Amino acid sequence: MCGIVGYIGERDVVDVLLDGMRRMEYRGYDSAGMALLDGDRFEVVREIGRVAELEKVVLGRGLTGRLGIGHTRWATHGGVTVENAHPQSDGSGRFVLVHNGIIENYLDLKEELEAQGDQFLSQTDTEVVVHYLARLYSGDMLQALVELQKRLRGSYALVILRRDDPDGFFCVRRGSPLVLGSGEGENFCVSDVAALLPYTRKVLYLEEGDIAQVSRGGLRIWDEEGTVKVPPVHEVDWDVSMVDKGGYSHFMLKEINEQGAVVRSSLKGRIEGGRVDLSDELQWTAETVASWRSLHIVACGTSYYASLVAERALSRWTDLDVRVDIASEYRHRTVRTDAKTLAVFVSQSGETADTIAAQRVARGLGAHCLAITNVRGSTLAREVHDTLLLKAGPEIGVAATKTFMGQMSVLYLLALYLGRLRGGITAAEESRLVEELNQLPYKVEATVAREESLSELARIYAERRDFLFLGRGYSFPVALEGALKLKEISYVHAEGYAAGEMKHGPIALLDEKVPVITVIPRDSLYEKTLSNILEAKARKSPIIALGTDGDDLLKSYADHIITVPWTDEAFTPFLTVIPLQLFAYHVAKRRGCDIDKPRNLAKSVTVE
Ligand code: F6R
Repeated sequence: MCGIVGYIGERDVVDVLLDGMRRMEYRGYDSAGMALLDGDRFEVVREIGRVAELEKVVLGRGLTGRLGIGHTRWATHGGVTVENAHPQSDGSGRFVLVHNGIIENYLDLKEELEAQGDQFLSQTDTEVVVHYLARLYSGDMLQALVELQKRLRGSYALVILRRDDPDGFFCVRRGSPLVLGSGEGENFCVSDVAALLPYTRKVLYLEEGDIAQVSRGGLRIWDEEGTVKVPPVHEVDWDVSMVDKGGYSHFMLKEINEQGAVVRSSLKGRIEGGRVDLSDELQWTAETVASWRSLHIVACGTSYYASLVAERALSRWTDLDVRVDIASEYRHRTVRTDAKTLAVFVSQSGETADTIAAQRVARGLGAHCLAITNVRGSTLAREVHDTLLLKAGPEIGVAATKTFMGQMSVLYLLALYLGRLRGGITAAEESRLVEELNQLPYKVEATVAREESLSELARIYAERRDFLFLGRGYSFPVALEGALKLKEISYVHAEGYAAGEMKHGPIALLDEKVPVITVIPRDSLYEKTLSNILEAKARKSPIIALGTDGDDLLKSYADHIITVPWTDEAFTPFLTVIPLQLFAYHVAKRRGCDIDKPRNLAKSVTVE
């Protein structure tokens, strides 16, 4: 939610800011703005709409420079107007700043400032922050930021330009991501490492409350009290080709096509002699593992659905009491969480506010916390006891696809590993499953290659207004994910249901206008799901069945059949989700939707 970029160096700052903002546009895209420091004068440009709109104005005005900050906005406080776009300035024009996050006590602060005569031009919390900073500043920026942080409640990543400081800018972060990039004679700060990759792979992660000064010659960092610190410089192992479309029409399609590789890299180095071995990443002793009684998995959205898939495998392969929860619920409800709990937090971005808050609750209650995330150095990764990385590479499309695949892969490895450590699975069973796991990348690739049939199905159904997705067992979360993909990128109403639940309500929706997509691989629940297909068929719904290669029986039940290669029941979600991703993609394409940046959404949900 909101993308921030700051730059100082010898390149044209306008190019760097626009490039960074385009790469982070998935974080928010209702307005954009930038400020350059030109001598002792700010040039501030803000536009409603995409970065492309801002670009037209900036290039039209021939702006250029060496120092500046930029912002893409996902509106929280105040509507989508130029006045509410960032950068925001203090009344005197001494400071401009960009902000990602939410200041919870901004109304109190605003009242305080208004009592002193300040006037505001926007409805944003951000404008209050920059006014407040201006009041606190008396010649020492570090001191002003230490004081400012004492007054702010909420989450923020701030990047601040001061009119009489042509040597760089300051940043502060708490609760919202901000990464520093270190180059030769140039330095950066960004919300997302992906925006740094064309320039540098050397990054520094800021901790909660850290303050940084970014200047041409270097980076200086202090903690929230103003004490100097020297964080390590990390070398990122992503490269710039990973953040380009690589010939695909959309990032989403590219990312769907990368899924075989994602499973392959998730397994790499984690399987040894036919057995899962995570001991390099998880320094768990036998006693610790034996002490756990329950396993909580907590996540939001697609990550929650990946967790629901894994719940079934974990319950089968381990003796732990497994429960999966939505982060925004888990954090507010009474859950029996204690030192006998392993709590797993699944988040692609590692920045989802509710997931982070849920982790803090679980940790406070004594649970051992493990993050499964795609982003090294993310807030979640820094706060937990242990992390397992997805190794999916950057995901740019707002709709998660390859990270869902990566999450399932890592969660399954965890399930097999825990099963072994706790004696819930035999060596023979583990080796059979690992063998199948090793085959999955090929089967995933074979499934993606069947895109054409999904494009054809989308041609037939793209204009329908409602869809029902059904599945049982392992296929239930897949139905949920299929419905989510369709609604979020094509704006078509879609509901995912456990197939057995259909007759408890949703069946009332069915008629010849409502297609029913049933996920029905050849598994132990196959016959029960078949009877659900019959029930839908009797209500004249068009039936699309998503089954297993060679399943001729399905032909007499369904109007359309899409099949995937055979795999063990436990692994079917790795394959069955792919046609649903491709179907959503092609429906959205036919409907002319903005596939990589669906309306109202942002990739990283850093507000509650
Ligand atoms: C849907 C989607 C979202 C995310 C959710 C959690 O395609 O991407 O539902 O899965 O916002 O995000 P992370 O995994 O970053 O915590």
